[in-house]
Amino acid sequence: PRSIIIDTDPGQDDAVAIMLALGNTDALEVLGLTAVAGNVGLAYTATNALKLLELAGRTDVPVFAGAAAPLVVQLETAEYVHGETGLNGWVFPEPTTALRPEFAPDWIVETVMSRPEKSVTLCPLGPLTNVALALAKEPRIATRLDRIVLMGGAQIEGGNVTPAAEFNIYVDPHAAARVFASGAEIVAMSLDVTHRALIRKAWLADLAALGTRCAEAFTGLLSFYERYDEEKYGSDGGPLHDPTTIAYLLAPDLFEGKLVNVEVETTPGLCFGQTVVDRWAVTGRKKNTTWITKVDADGFFALILDAFRRLP
Ligand code: BDR
Ligand code: CA
Repeated sequence: PRSIIIDTDPGQDDAVAIMLALGNTDALEVLGLTAVAGNVGLAYTATNALKLLELAGRTDVPVFAGAAAPLVVQLETAEYVHGETGLNGWVFPEPTTALRPEFAPDWIVETVMSRPEKSVTLCPLGPLTNVALALAKEPRIATRLDRIVLMGGAQIEGGNVTPAAEFNIYVDPHAAARVFASGAEIVAMSLDVTHRALIRKAWLADLAALGTRCAEAFTGLLSFYERYDEEKYGSDGGPLHDPTTIAYLLAPDLFEGKLVNVEVETTPGLCFGQTVVDRWAVTGRKKNTTWITKVDADGFFALILDAFRRLP
């Protein structure tokens, strides 16, 4: 299996991404979860990561806490989407395992440097603070990593926090700018693709019908999550952002994109946190990102359901 590190701020859709990875042990080995502040504060995101592993019966996967705040700006959270705890909609038992003592960016560096070159894939699902700190400590991880497959950014669809900016990039644009400029090979799942992967009520019913403890918990979570997005986007259901990263690793043929240059606006103002995507190569700047814009949504949701069939 491919070795991956999931850097995350769970978060409802983060939680689905983690389950999608854990439900595919043949293809993916999750080396660890690294928590970052984002959707809610770090105390919640780190504990939520432990709770999710407990639910999945995978307390063997280590969890590391990372940055509690962005590099430069104040933390802005998204309780209005994910609830007070980040995982509203289901009551999880308290975790029986503890966080590992290392600081997440340190563990990322250590893991990537001690393993064979190009053997670890990093999947950031939240603000890019931990990833930027790891890159600052050891810039060589950029090219030592297989790739960074991240959820973040928006071009065609426009932003979801401001008209220009998507949440993960907006929360820590300085970190994001560093990651895109790091020299790492990046695949970006932006709102341009995630807004084409909407949760449908019929799919939620299929999930509920599995009747397992994981399916039951996620039916609760996603029913809560859906309410927000449905009101906002007026569709049958809201976009399920973060699992697109894991789905891309499992089934790249479900997606289409283009290799382009992406840079991040860090100047305060209307476009703060915008991903500037050079779709038509007008700048001549180095193409650093595969920017995904299309997904086979049915195939994507089938993949998630399959993972839940294999989970407890
Ligand atoms: C991103 O923001 C968060 O609220 C989600 O978990 C996702 O990572 C979408 O903009
Ligand atoms: Ca997230």
